[in-house]
Amino acid sequence: MSGSNIIPWVVGNWKMNPMQADAQQLIQDLKQLLQDAPITEQQCHIGVAPISIALLSVKQSLQNVSPAVKVVAQDVSQMAGTGAYTGEVSAELLKDSQIDYVLVGHSERREIFGDDVTKIKAKISNALNAHLHIIYCVGESLEQREAGQAEQIVLQQICDLAAVVKPEQWHNIVIAYEPIWAIGTGKTASPQDAQAMHAKIREGLTQITTEGQRTAILYGGSVKPENAVELAACPDINGALVGGASLNAESFYKIAQAFAKTE
Ligand code: PGA
Repeated sequence: MSGSNIIPWVVGNWKMNPMQADAQQLIQDLKQLLQDAPITEQQCHIGVAPISIALLSVKQSLQNVSPAVKVVAQDVSQMAGTGAYTGEVSAELLKDSQIDYVLVGHSERREIFGDDVTKIKAKISNALNAHLHIIYCVGESLEQREAGQAEQIVLQQICDLAAVVKPEQWHNIVIAYEPIWAIGTGKTASPQDAQAMHAKIREGLTQITTEGQRTAILYGGSVKPENAVELAACPDINGALVGGASLNAESFYKIAQAFAKTE
């Protein structure tokens, strides 16, 4: 079974980039490309994830773009609501600012900022309970892949997710499989290897939720226009989470075009 009827998602993860003027230029360029050759929401959901202090200005700049470009937060606090938590932004505060999407569990958060399973579960629960949609990132390290543990690691990360998602919340979840060794390295998983892992993830999801066949599973890790077409042809790869290449409007747009459904 494959998820080939799923509307793809192409999301640009801007990480700790760019400066304000460059961000505005990037948005203007992207708007122009979308105006010249629109990609409809039936063809592909497009989103960008700027730094937290730029979420509202980016949202404002994208206000009248049709089809809509979704604005995605890169992270959310493990603490819910409001309170004395210096430096944190909760799911409720994102929602209050009309930010409806958030990345959770990116490997950079897991590896550099100590987002362990407990924190990640809290972030998932908080986001879903505040009615945010999440893009939940999973992926194995090079050592884990070389030790033959890739599948086990990724499926465990799916189980961590399943432990906190309520049945009625699954439709607010997108998965992003990002092998850590492929992020920012120029190395992409081969379409065959990526498809194999995506199929395993879908099989796992199908055992957990009736939404398993409808859940978008994105690939991430050095996606660029040159490899997007081949990745998009895989039945269980329903889009891309794009880092480096999303900082160039034309590259990002071409990736979205590669994934956009043509019928
Ligand atoms: P990359 O990053 O496309 O630069 O490899 C992907 C990501 O980390 O989401």
